[in-house]
Amino acid sequence: MTDQEAKVPRRGFLKILSSLFAALGLTAIAGPAIAYFWPSKLEEMPSDPVSAGSEGTIPEGEAKTVRFGRYPALVINTPERGIVAYSAVCTHFACRVDWHPESKMSAGPCHEGYFNAVDGSVISGPPPTSLEEILVTIVDGNILIGGEA
Ligand code: FES
Repeated sequence: MTDQEAKVPRRGFLKILSSLFAALGLTAIAGPAIAYFWPSKLEEMPSDPVSAGSEGTIPEGEAKTVRFGRYPALVINTPERGIVAYSAVCTHFACRVDWHPESKMSAGPCHEGYFNAVDGSVISGPPPTSLEEILVTIVDGNILIGGEA
């Protein structure tokens, strides 16, 4: 084998390697952009209802965070709709959404995304979609969230 024949496969290998690194770099840049347009969704919702305590523990205009499977959920007592529940996972980049009693809104602390307490819709900020609403059932004064309708 001559020197010239040995260089061709090495050059080809380097070309493949540089193409591979270019593809990895493009993926690193495109990944967050794609995640922005396809927001995070809860992958594991409990199939059975989860207790969120008794009705009287959440005064009107207040909320509490409860564990809903692997994720937190916000249970809010609204004057307009009564008890409502939402996934407390922000639809932007999945930060935890907290309740702000002074503004009566829930917000993701990461990028100041604000959500309406009545319907979970986006008020402002970068979240692309509303918070995911969770079914609420009141049984004998106890709040149950999730499960089948
Ligand atoms: S993660 Fe909620 S606004 Fe960005």
